[in-house]
Amino acid sequence: MRAIAYDRHGRAGQVLRLSERPAPAAPAAGQVRVRVLSRPVHPGDLAGVEGFPGAPRQRFATPRIPGLEGMGVVETVGDGVRELRAGQRVAFFPVPGAWSELVTAPADLVVPVPEDVGDETAALMLVNPLTLLSLLRAVEDAQHGQAGPVVQTAAGSSVGKLVSAAALRHGIPLVNLVRSATGAQALRQRFPGLPTVSTADADWRTQVKDATGGRGAQVVLDAVGGSLTGELAGLLADGGTLIAYGQLGSGSTPLESLALTPRALTVRGTSVLQWMTTRTPGERAEDVAFAARLAATAPELFEVAAGYDLADFAKAVDHVRRPGKSGTVLLTSPAP
Ligand SMILES: NC(=O)c1ccc[n+]([C@@H]2O[C@H](COP(=O)([O-])OP(=O)(O)OC[C@H]3O[C@@H](n4cnc5c(N)ncnc54)[C@H](OP(=O)(O)O)[C@@H]3O)[C@@H](O)[C@H]2O)c1
Repeated sequence: MRAIAYDRHGRAGQVLRLSERPAPAAPAAGQVRVRVLSRPVHPGDLAGVEGFPGAPRQRFATPRIPGLEGMGVVETVGDGVRELRAGQRVAFFPVPGAWSELVTAPADLVVPVPEDVGDETAALMLVNPLTLLSLLRAVEDAQHGQAGPVVQTAAGSSVGKLVSAAALRHGIPLVNLVRSATGAQALRQRFPGLPTVSTADADWRTQVKDATGGRGAQVVLDAVGGSLTGELAGLLADGGTLIAYGQLGSGSTPLESLALTPRALTVRGTSVLQWMTTRTPGERAEDVAFAARLAATAPELFEVAAGYDLADFAKAVDHVRRPGKSGTVLLTSPAP
């Protein structure tokens, strides 16, 4: 089978290699083997390859295959697996090694794809909706029952659009922040009911303040971080919470430079990787059902920027980083 792997942290375009590798072992009891047809290239996948900021860069004796999410067709089922059968279309998360053509996974991490959900949507069906749920829960925790204005950065991202749609559905007073005038225009067209501000405008801080009714934000959902963090803390009302969930930006902001104590601000992180450990099996099943329903009823929220064959992974990585990209880049494999 083909797989993309890396043996040290570094720029994705430099350390990733495509190679032929032995197929994984036949599934043990409770496992299934899936022929992967499509998997997203999430910014977090690239951060994993490059090394997360603050964590040491490493070399690996055994090459690592990126990716935790994908869709494909069940090839073989192990003993005791009753809910899945060979030939069934499925999505999976979190299953390490999704950037290969075969994965062996515990059956409870593999979910049938509803008939009315296409392959491309199915490849994106889990991570972003589960991230949305974790962000909505973090916002609710931060609001202590008193809903106030929420600002989100990188609002034109795939996750950001899910947040916008959820805000409109649940009446959350959301202000969208993007980094360019063209990004702002595109988002205003998509979500005319939500104020959108571009940080390219000299007076963007005032625009955000006005959009929050002059109060400042109760919560900032931030996927950018880096040198923007101090600015975002400045947008919060006293007692507000900055929820960090991505690191698209560069630079850094020392914690000491934020007025955490005098303004009683909270800074916290959230990661979809905590989903497996923080949710009970029953809650996870409900979350997955939500994701599948959303994929079936609102496929426009699962936009695909482009698909590239595994062999063209370098082009896919470049595309992920292209400013103004809309939607998620997929890596595909031909069906056998
Ligand atoms: N914590 C978690 O569990 C979790 C899970 C999923 C995703 N995430 C994070 O969520 C974020 C969005 O992911 P996605 O897959 O939805 O992204 P995406 O669809 O690839 O979109 C990326 C967006 O970020 C914007 N952007 C890129 N660099 C930026 C910068 N330096 N400053 C401001 N904006 C910038 C782009 O704006 P332009 O249109 O201007 O290019 C684009 O709108 C990422 O940070 C990702 O790591 C976190």
